Amino acid sequence: MKVLIATDKPFAAEAVTGIREVIEKAGFELVLLEKYTEKKQLLDAVADVDAAIIRSDIFDKEVLDAAKNLKIVVRAGAGYDNIDLEAATANKICVMNTPGQNANAVAELVFGLAVYAIRSFFKGTSGTELLGKKLGIHAYGNVGRNVARIAKGFGMEVYAFDPFLSKEAIEKEGVKAVGSAEELYTTCQYVSLHMPATDETANSINYELISKMPKNALLLNTARKEVVDEASIVKVMEERKDFKYVTDVLPGNHAEMTEKFAGRYFSTPKKSGAQTEEANINAGIAAANQIVDFIKNGNERFRVNGK
Ligand code: 3PG
Repeated sequence: MKVLIATDKPFAAEAVTGIREVIEKAGFELVLLEKYTEKKQLLDAVADVDAAIIRSDIFDKEVLDAAKNLKIVVRAGAGYDNIDLEAATANKICVMNTPGQNANAVAELVFGLAVYAIRSFFKGTSGTELLGKKLGIHAYGNVGRNVARIAKGFGMEVYAFDPFLSKEAIEKEGVKAVGSAEELYTTCQYVSLHMPATDETANSINYELISKMPKNALLLNTARKEVVDEASIVKVMEERKDFKYVTDVLPGNHAEMTEKFAGRYFSTPKKSGAQTEEANINAGIAAANQIVDFIKNGNERFRVNGK
């Protein structure tokens, strides 16, 4: 059995060592494709492997069709919008993710970005503090829960909205639940996004919602660029000089945002939320264990595509 790690954005070396140990202990062979620059390299690498561990690497129909022996692909992370699930199902390939394994890393970055933004992007002018402010968590999954935990440490008032969770489920964790996205944006000066990119969430963070945010609003996006309607952000930031947007998922209109909203907008050049040694180790080794358990025992827990 040949297992490929295909990571355009490589794992920390310690994570690769840990993955190798799991794969080789199972009697399988590990092959590595890191920092590839052309799709052809990926197409060649997948040609004869039985399993693959990936991050945000694009596994579209072309890649899945080229992977003639592939039985399982595990996205070491949460979001699997980079994988064509229908093509995988058609090719009898099992797709899994590793939910929760990198959630703390993403949540910690939220606060790095928040402090950076409200301390005037470290320009030296007087900023503001998190203590006592209202934070709205939009989508309360693994990352959202970690954000809530850390926010309480900062002394923030924590609110959340998740269309898939009841108010009771959220409130039993000591977080104030609101009944709608509108209510979250109307209530909270800071909003942090934690939903996956799906057909339903695409462009769903729009003018109608964000224009409702209170004075000195800060929108934090460590989810996906696709969930935010870029024209809406531009419109709100043109209308409101008190509105800031910080993200680690580079917007399509980054050049325009940088030019128009210097001092109120920031994006990391690359998605950085899960870029910690700990997250790489947790997600990478979970992926390796899931592959071994799937191949040896048929365990399909964490499968995200249909059969
Ligand atoms: C995820 O979906 O798990 C995060 O966005 C991290 O993605 P990455 O592994 O591409 O950094």
